[in-house]
Amino acid sequence: MDSVNRQWRLVRRPVGAAKVSDMEFHEGDIPDASALADGQILVRTSVFLHAPTMRNWMDEPGNNYYPSVPLGAPMLATCAGTVVASKDPRFTPGDRVTTIGSWQDYAIVDANVMPVRPVRPDVSLVQAMGPLGMNALTAYMGMTKIGRPEPGDVLVVSGAAGSTGSVAGQIGKIMGCRVIGIAGSTDKCNYLTQDLGFDAAINYRDTNVEQEIRALAPAGINVFFDNVGGEILQAAVENIAKNGVIVLCGQIAGYDNSEPISGPRNMMRLVYGSVRMQGFLLGDFEAEIPTATDQLWEWLSAGKIKHREDLREGFESLPESFGDLSKGLNDGTLLVVTQDQEAHSTAL
Ligand SMILES: NC(=O)c1ccc[n+]([C@@H]2O[C@H](COP(=O)([O-])OP(=O)(O)OC[C@H]3O[C@@H](n4cnc5c(N)ncnc54)[C@H](OP(=O)(O)O)[C@@H]3O)[C@@H](O)[C@H]2O)c1
Repeated sequence: MDSVNRQWRLVRRPVGAAKVSDMEFHEGDIPDASALADGQILVRTSVFLHAPTMRNWMDEPGNNYYPSVPLGAPMLATCAGTVVASKDPRFTPGDRVTTIGSWQDYAIVDANVMPVRPVRPDVSLVQAMGPLGMNALTAYMGMTKIGRPEPGDVLVVSGAAGSTGSVAGQIGKIMGCRVIGIAGSTDKCNYLTQDLGFDAAINYRDTNVEQEIRALAPAGINVFFDNVGGEILQAAVENIAKNGVIVLCGQIAGYDNSEPISGPRNMMRLVYGSVRMQGFLLGDFEAEIPTATDQLWEWLSAGKIKHREDLREGFESLPESFGDLSKGLNDGTLLVVTQDQEAHSTAL
């Protein structure tokens, strides 16, 4: 049993990209299990996911669409761990779960407010956060519920070498699409075409994305899975095919600004093209997550989907490694392991 509860608290609203100095390390008491209210569980955390949208959660309150972490509170984060105490009849001590907790060793989670998902006994917490985690599930829902491509369609994915995009593109291949990925380096583009089976890749840092899409897909994009927004979304709008679909998964190009980035120009293309542009959240499909998890596991086991986790070690490294997301320095799903043994073992 640990003697202290380590925390990283948000103490400053970042200006631009989040900095380590926006956080403060704190050691305190482990929460008293007897003080849990009905519906609450106490989770000992072992693995944290760095998600780009956490940068939005660091902003001032006022945007109704996502939470704002109060100054002085531990930073909110998706995590995996083990239930150590429960006042929710659905969970008992020893259960392994993924949930939205915070940057601390022991997080009290209100299971009636936050999603708390059991982890399959045959997978590790790292696997539950990586290939079966929130981003892979988001890719699955975005492709199968929103994008819904037909075999032979051209699918373009932005943020394609990342956690969500790499899975979205591979699901597109399974669905019979011709898949083009957009990513930020030659190495990432090679990874897409050589390791993941994408048909083509565009390095947005050294080429004109709009022209390159036109050269690769002269008949236009049927489905655009967008993780990025901004000028990359604009390039896709200029190339969208008749009856095309734009799946709005994220707007990472704007997360380091406190003000929202503007939407695309030339919306008459969507009018004349009868184009559907639709946003979504993974939580819109909560009831379908068990089925999606089984399907992803089947594809992974059959080698139809490959997944890479970028594992960082140690609770101390949480704020510093978070900064790598906006610099494009993550190779796949960026996870921080804080309890080695629990993170890598299964329950079997
Ligand atoms: N709707 C939902 O329910 C939901 C759920 C999960 C995630 N998401 C969204 O999915 C998107 C991807 O998240 P992820 O966790 O999978 O991250 P990720 O793609 O693994 O990592 C972020 C990547 O974004 C790229 N990037 C960073 N800044 C950029 C910029 N200014 N312009 C273009 N690309 C930039 C970088 O790759 P490059 O080197 O290629 O630039 C970086 O590696 C995010 O927008 C996130 O909010 C949505």
